[in-house]
Amino acid sequence: MRSVLDINDLTVDEIDGLIAVAEDIMSDPDKYAHACDRKKLATLFFEPSTRTRLSFEAAMYELGGHVLSMSDAASSSASKGESVADTAAVVSSYADIIAMRHPKEGAPRVASMHATVPVINAGDGGHNHPTQTLADLLTIHKEKGRLGGLTIGFCGDLKFGRTVHSLINAMSRYPDVRVILISPEELKLPGYVKKEVLNKNKIPYVETKDLLEFMPELDILYMTRVQRERFFNEEDYLRLKDSYILTPDKLKTAKNDLSILHPLPRVNEISVAIDKDPRACYFKQVLYGKYMRMALILKLLGVDV
Ligand code: NCD
Repeated sequence: MRSVLDINDLTVDEIDGLIAVAEDIMSDPDKYAHACDRKKLATLFFEPSTRTRLSFEAAMYELGGHVLSMSDAASSSASKGESVADTAAVVSSYADIIAMRHPKEGAPRVASMHATVPVINAGDGGHNHPTQTLADLLTIHKEKGRLGGLTIGFCGDLKFGRTVHSLINAMSRYPDVRVILISPEELKLPGYVKKEVLNKNKIPYVETKDLLEFMPELDILYMTRVQRERFFNEEDYLRLKDSYILTPDKLKTAKNDLSILHPLPRVNEISVAIDKDPRACYFKQVLYGKYMRMALILKLLGVDV
């Protein structure tokens, strides 16, 4: 029984295999329509979500399976004081696989230690979000035809943005990747990610406050929302929330084949005027997330199609 709590729980070969399965599902969905007949996915979400929970659920339905959904901590026994460990043990009696989102870093790992079915981390605090990374990787693969040899700019809240931490981790395992970190001083990438991921893998990176400085060099621009819910005070959030707003004029120096990604939800970071630009990939990214989650569910349930 295997869980995915961190993108490093999957080898590069396994990630490439998931991309291949996701692409196969996209080209022939009927082949997979009964792959998970009679199987149940439990989505345990202790934090708000639209895309991640609904895409997990859509993924399971499209595989012929069923879904048990807990979308609100307030309506669950967590509000009575039940621990994550007990919840995971209990839900294992009802479901074949669990997707869990939690505001506390490490909560899905605790769940995996007490569950008797695979647990997928659907976002833990400001830490990791491996299935968003799978969506991001499929998007990059589809747009660029490769995952190596790319210059990728991460812009916005690099401190609390868990999708940034997981994607940097994944990209660091592909060859010739260069990283540009664009953020205000207060929202820089945590030191542990620089040390344990970028330095350890000898990934060249620069830090800048200026979104335009490296724009002409970027193959991928990964925009992020300032993570209001992780701030200690509203004042800091209000000061920093509009640090970067991508507007068409800021793309003047960008490559014609730049790919603009965003895990969504968007607040103000990307002007809606960019949505029709062929370089905008964020709505495709949402769809790709569903196919990658289908591929991951199949893998963790050991279903071969
Ligand atoms: C992200 C998350 O939850 O970390 N959303 C998502 O799952 N697509 C990004 C965010 O909330 O800003």
